[in-house]
Amino acid sequence: MFSFPLSDDAVLILRTASITDAYHQLVTANQERLARWEPWAVKPQAISETRAFLEASARSWLDGSELPVAIAVREDGQWHLAGAAGLRINGYTRSGEVGYWIDGGHEGRGLITMTVAALLDQAFGPLGIDRVTLHTDPANERSRAVARRLGFVEEATLRQATAFPDERRDEVVYGIMAGEWRGVMSSGP
Ligand SMILES: CC(C)(COP(=O)(O)OP(=O)(O)OC[C@H]1O[C@@H](n2cnc3c(N)ncnc32)[C@H](O)[C@@H]1OP(=O)(O)O)[C@@H](O)C(=O)NCCC(=O)NCCS
Repeated sequence: MFSFPLSDDAVLILRTASITDAYHQLVTANQERLARWEPWAVKPQAISETRAFLEASARSWLDGSELPVAIAVREDGQWHLAGAAGLRINGYTRSGEVGYWIDGGHEGRGLITMTVAALLDQAFGPLGIDRVTLHTDPANERSRAVARRLGFVEEATLRQATAFPDERRDEVVYGIMAGEWRGVMSSGP
């Protein structure tokens, strides 16, 4: 199975239905926390919905429209899931969009920064993508810090772009080009 090392104790694996039980447990444990920022997390998910989502992720990997990953970490000699991320790919515009979330107990350790860096390496390397964007809530300071840490440039605010059940919210869009990422990598992220 595909796996991509982030460090000695953290790897990216493909997000497919083979991890349904562990992924469902992780989403359920983080649902209330994620609901603050992710419309898909506002309601608790049934395991059948989690499986359908993971099956769709695998199809998107096969048809080339996404690089869908889960983050696994080794603790006390055991591997656990700790979060998820993805690079959605638009082949026509040779552009991509990253998204991510991490388990509350694994926040603040650099796992998401390392994961997005790995996705950018894939995007601007083998996948031949020229531009990657990252959309986030203006109030999501931790997410905005990930973008800034990796050298993304703030480009725009999309008004009321996200639909939550009780309101629409703005989104800040960050972007990074292949050449800018090479500059970040040569000077150290
Ligand atoms: C947004 C979110 C993914 C950010 O996660 P995070 O853990 O803060 O991000 P990182 O993994 O990059 O960790 C950054 C922290 O690790 C530290 N760090 C440690 N080692 C590091 C390394 N090798 N590289 C980078 N940062 C490192 C950084 O200094 C930073 O510390 P701080 O928390 O004191 O500022 C997380 O808060 C989350 O899941 N939120 C809920 C869902 C969500 O908002 N998703 C995004 C929607 S757009």
